Amino acid sequence: MIVIRDEQPDDGPGIRELALLAFDGPAEARIIDALREACPGLVSLVAVENGEIVGHILFSPVSINGSTITGMGLAPMAVLPERQRQGIGTELVRHGLSRLREERCPFVIVLGHPDYYPRFGFVPASMYGLSSQWEGVPDEAFMVIVFDERLMDSVHGVVRYRDEFDGAMK
Ligand SMILES: CC(C)(COP(=O)(O)OP(=O)(O)OC[C@H]1O[C@@H](n2cnc3c(N)ncnc32)[C@H](O)[C@@H]1OP(=O)(O)O)[C@@H](O)C(=O)NCCC(=O)NCCS
Repeated sequence: MIVIRDEQPDDGPGIRELALLAFDGPAEARIIDALREACPGLVSLVAVENGEIVGHILFSPVSINGSTITGMGLAPMAVLPERQRQGIGTELVRHGLSRLREERCPFVIVLGHPDYYPRFGFVPASMYGLSSQWEGVPDEAFMVIVFDERLMDSVHGVVRYRDEFDGAMK
């Protein structure tokens, strides 16, 4: 049985190993470690099966240029290669979004595959006048799910992830 729970202090090495196996290089593992070190307010969930971490999802604060409103960015997310396409990623996203909605997070951003994230309610961020800080990001790949429509109606601009992401995106 798979359990989704918050990251615990001992989970660091398991999450790192998972990220190294799921991604092509060490960038994502480094981002996770750097954020854990320096960033308050992370939401970090793991999927655990028989004591092994088989999936991980991280949400970190994002800001909008010229605004004091803070949302969250979904990244990175990973599932063990041999356990992919079995619904674990879906469970992680659902748990994370439901937590953030409960915590009154106004919006969640994701830069990802346009075939995957719309099933959770993500739409192109451009529909809300939000754009990526990185050049060359295709419109349909930069997506948002808005929990506070009224607040987000009045806010537009460039969404900025934590600086820890910059190294990996260059
Ligand atoms: C992306 C990822 C986390 C999804 O987790 P998962 O447990 O495999 O996803 P689920 O089983 O819940 O969903 C599977 C569905 O998602 C879609 N999907 C998953 N990965 C996809 C990808 N890379 N591109 C496009 N669609 C994808 C497929 O439509 C798939 O549907 P199918 O079963 O009909 O083929 C996982 O594939 C992974 O770790 N990939 C490598 C790391 C990565 O690229 N992370 C995302 C960027 S941060």
